[in-house]
Amino acid sequence: MPSLENTYQELFGHRAEVIAEAPGRVNLIGEHIDYSEGFVLPFAIADRTFAAIARNKDGLVRIASQQRKNRIFTIDIKDVKPGSTGEWEKYVLGVIWTMGVTSGVDILVDGHVPSGAGLSSSAALECSVAVGLNLLFDLKKSLEEIARAAQKAENDYVGMPCGIMDQSVSLMGREGSALLLDCRDLSTESVPFDVASAGLELLIIDTQAHHALVDGGYAERRASCESVAAKFSIPSMRHLTMDVLESRKSEITETEFIRARHAVTEIQRVKDAVIALRASDFSTLGRLINESHFSLRDDYTVSCPELDVAVDASLAVGALGSRMVGGGFGGSAIALIKADQIESVKDSIRSAYSAKGFKAPRFFTSLPSAGASAKLIS
Ligand code: GLA
Repeated sequence: MPSLENTYQELFGHRAEVIAEAPGRVNLIGEHIDYSEGFVLPFAIADRTFAAIARNKDGLVRIASQQRKNRIFTIDIKDVKPGSTGEWEKYVLGVIWTMGVTSGVDILVDGHVPSGAGLSSSAALECSVAVGLNLLFDLKKSLEEIARAAQKAENDYVGMPCGIMDQSVSLMGREGSALLLDCRDLSTESVPFDVASAGLELLIIDTQAHHALVDGGYAERRASCESVAAKFSIPSMRHLTMDVLESRKSEITETEFIRARHAVTEIQRVKDAVIALRASDFSTLGRLINESHFSLRDDYTVSCPELDVAVDASLAVGALGSRMVGGGFGGSAIALIKADQIESVKDSIRSAYSAKGFKAPRFFTSLPSAGASAKLIS
């Protein structure tokens, strides 16, 4: 395939000034609690999205993709505001808008994070463009500010009420480590995640399922947590304990109760998982991963048959832990397994899928990788 820079020159008739890149993510534990000011423990994966960017003098934004070169989406920079046209280009336009760019730019993206797999290809796209623009226009925004800008692009331009986890880890991920992120103030700590030296592997299972509930279901879960917080006059689920939740159960609906129970217990599981990881106690980590899945399946009800079958089939052949990752209703699951079990775990999942008549799953592995970066082309 021609290089990104060559394609850029062919499509736009001038050279790119900046090349930027940003990764997708998996989340070890801490699901559906980023918008409740919780703690999460994701890592950036090796797969990333690249963006080549340069200014133009036409006052236009032109966006193309290495994957679909026959389309150049074009819009006047003055029309870049919520409600504009665009398909996937809205992720890019949203970032241009939230980063405060007001002059014309030509952008070519090259996405290598599998889309629809729950590995945050959208955050990779947003963050690659955001760090590229930050460098090109010398905007001097910190990683925290860029993360918030990328999240705002997705919330207010694309219309998906996501939390801050995916953008943060895409920007701040570190090689060899999971990132303990405090979603209230975006402070981070690196937690070494070296499964290989313990003879383990983290298998990523793309269920290839994508259920229609994804957007509405996500917003509904988030609204439940916000409703409980409002009824209890607390800022977020982070300020709740199981004791208080039990004692005030009559003030909220049954659905709100189980949603809040997931949030409270999941925040605790993240803290416990960090202790386990630091002690290289992978069996405890595995147990916490399983408990996270059961809570997401039974209390938060964001799993789906394809995710549950992947988890059950992994555990049936001896995985230490397995759970869905990301928003749910499809996408990917992870399984913490002994490295020499990888083929038997894959076989177990494949045959369980074929017995259910599900589309064949895809498998990945990835080590924790570095976050986004950008460089000027001289
Ligand atoms: C999606 C959202 C994140 C987070 C996860 C669930 O990936 O983009 O902000 O809420 O779901 O943990």
